[in-house]
Amino acid sequence: MFDEKDLIVEAKHVTKIFPASKGRQLVANNDINLKFYRGKTLGLVGESGCGKSTFMRMLLSLDEPTEGEILFNGQDITKLKGEKLRLNRQHIQMVFQDPATSFNPKMKIRDIICEPLLNFGRIKPSEKDAKAAELLEMVELPAELKDRYMHNMSGGQRQRVAIARAIALEPDMIVMDEATSALDVSVQKTIIELITKLQREKNIAIGFICHDLGLAQSFSHEIAVMYLGNIVETMPGEDIGPDCFHPYTKALIESVFDIKMDFSKKIKQIKGEVPSPLDAPKGCPFCDRCECCMEVCKTVKPKLVEVAPDHMVACHQFDKEGCGGHCKTDQSKDDDCCEELAKGAFVSEHAPGEGPEAHVEQKGE
Ligand SMILES: Nc1ncnc2c1ncn2[C@@H]1O[C@H](COP(=O)(O)OP(=O)(O)O)[C@@H](O)[C@H]1O
Ligand code: SF4
Ligand SMILES: [Mg+2]
Repeated sequence: MFDEKDLIVEAKHVTKIFPASKGRQLVANNDINLKFYRGKTLGLVGESGCGKSTFMRMLLSLDEPTEGEILFNGQDITKLKGEKLRLNRQHIQMVFQDPATSFNPKMKIRDIICEPLLNFGRIKPSEKDAKAAELLEMVELPAELKDRYMHNMSGGQRQRVAIARAIALEPDMIVMDEATSALDVSVQKTIIELITKLQREKNIAIGFICHDLGLAQSFSHEIAVMYLGNIVETMPGEDIGPDCFHPYTKALIESVFDIKMDFSKKIKQIKGEVPSPLDAPKGCPFCDRCECCMEVCKTVKPKLVEVAPDHMVACHQFDKEGCGGHCKTDQSKDDDCCEELAKGAFVSEHAPGEGPEAHVEQKGE
């Protein structure tokens, strides 16, 4: 989908397990394979608690994966220690949900913005004023704001300051973790416009974490849907909508509130609760809540398979394990789940991280 020469960060088979009480293990991320490209935004969406922040914290080297690699420009950064780790932090910066609590309230805006530049010896203290003014202009704020404090600013202005600080070190990638979730919709839009403009000017890769599928879709070049620590679908941003395949993604879309929506239609809720990651189902992570669940789903975990160009889905309806068997052997079960397959959807199967072109066959042959 994107030019491999623009690949900047790649997560390969990343798993994060937290120890839990009574010797149990909490699998927060399970074999995640995602790529981030210069100038492109990957939107990572999923319900609260599914493991989005855990994954992004590992990209930022704030936490170490239990297994797997995170490659920055081809080098595994999970093994970096000491000064090498510190220096590497310049390349991937972050913007969190609430800048008011992320920064010292006693610091002036000028000091907040210039702190990373001073830490890495990029500017002298005497250059702070000019640099802060320059960065504030980049995020379309008046230079005079450099003498203010965070609590004297609106939510949107604070988030612009956080973005100014994030771009100060000219990073290759910015991670935005629910960075616009606390803002009014109109302010949200202006922040998205700003970050899109900066991305175009500076060719930055963006990891945009969000529980709002509609918002992520509005500007992401690629979307990855996470459920209970697993990536269940990845697709080009424009495929979100009628062209997505996974029952969880479909359910998420049906539960999105949109001002342009058809209000005669009921907003659908996803049935049941997300299970605890301590008690995840053995087979498909979504099987307890899925309206299309088959026998095989309860025991065999589906792998990501390619169902359309650059569009991967982990669901047995689209692989050889599942629907083929289900449709052919259990004719009594007359549900709609296999409609796409009946229409001749493609099935391709390969190990996570391998090229999608591995094995393609026409279902029903
Ligand atoms: N440091 C930690 N120790 C133990 N469990 C954690 C820790 N951080 C996150 N978790 C658990 O990992 C799961 C994923 O959390 P998180 O990544 O914050 O989800 P999200 O960002 O999608 O809301 C949750 O069940 C959470 O309780
Ligand atoms: S694998 Fe089975 S349970 Fe999981 S999403 Fe697909 S149909 Fe539903
Ligand atoms: Mg989070």
